[in-house]
Amino acid sequence: MSLKNAMTADFLRSAYGGESMAHIRYLVWAESAEKNGFPNIGRLFRAISYAEWVHARNHFNVLKDQVGDATVAAGGVFGLTNIVENLQGAFDGEVHEIDQMYPVYLETARFQGEKDAERSFHYALSAEKEHAKLFKKAQDLAKQDKDTDNSKIYVCPICGFTVEEEAPEKCPICGVKKDLFKEF
Ligand SMILES: [Fe+2]
Ligand SMILES: [Fe+2]
Repeated sequence: MSLKNAMTADFLRSAYGGESMAHIRYLVWAESAEKNGFPNIGRLFRAISYAEWVHARNHFNVLKDQVGDATVAAGGVFGLTNIVENLQGAFDGEVHEIDQMYPVYLETARFQGEKDAERSFHYALSAEKEHAKLFKKAQDLAKQDKDTDNSKIYVCPICGFTVEEEAPEKCPICGVKKDLFKEF
């Protein structure tokens, strides 16, 4: 099904831009965490970076028939300071997506009858809620100069749902099977 509405298409491009930046930003912050003695927080950034890639890919795929150049305006968080501040930036970015951006984008896609866009926004909104919790938990430890524990982190390759310790039998957001989850 191809997109019919310009506003939903604009929101997809903006969300694609935001997710693409988050993907890179989390890899930069992962490298910084690892260099500064927080390998597990580094791994958390890498896992969530992958989830943001999943979101960017999903949005891009919905836009597949919109061929050609576009100027993209998207929110991005900047700064590379210390682990606690970087985690604050990560948390703030996720909360912006959860409270402001995705609910509006999702309602617009729903109102305009854009089913594929609606699904892509729903997946991202749902996954970001887990990301915000994981970043907050990591920051509480980093404030005490502690790393997170070394339990595995699993990411759904369809919707970006992210969970520690063990992947669920079925993804609670999109229903994909456990063995497809990517391990970090
Ligand atoms: Fe996220
Ligand atoms: Fe999923």
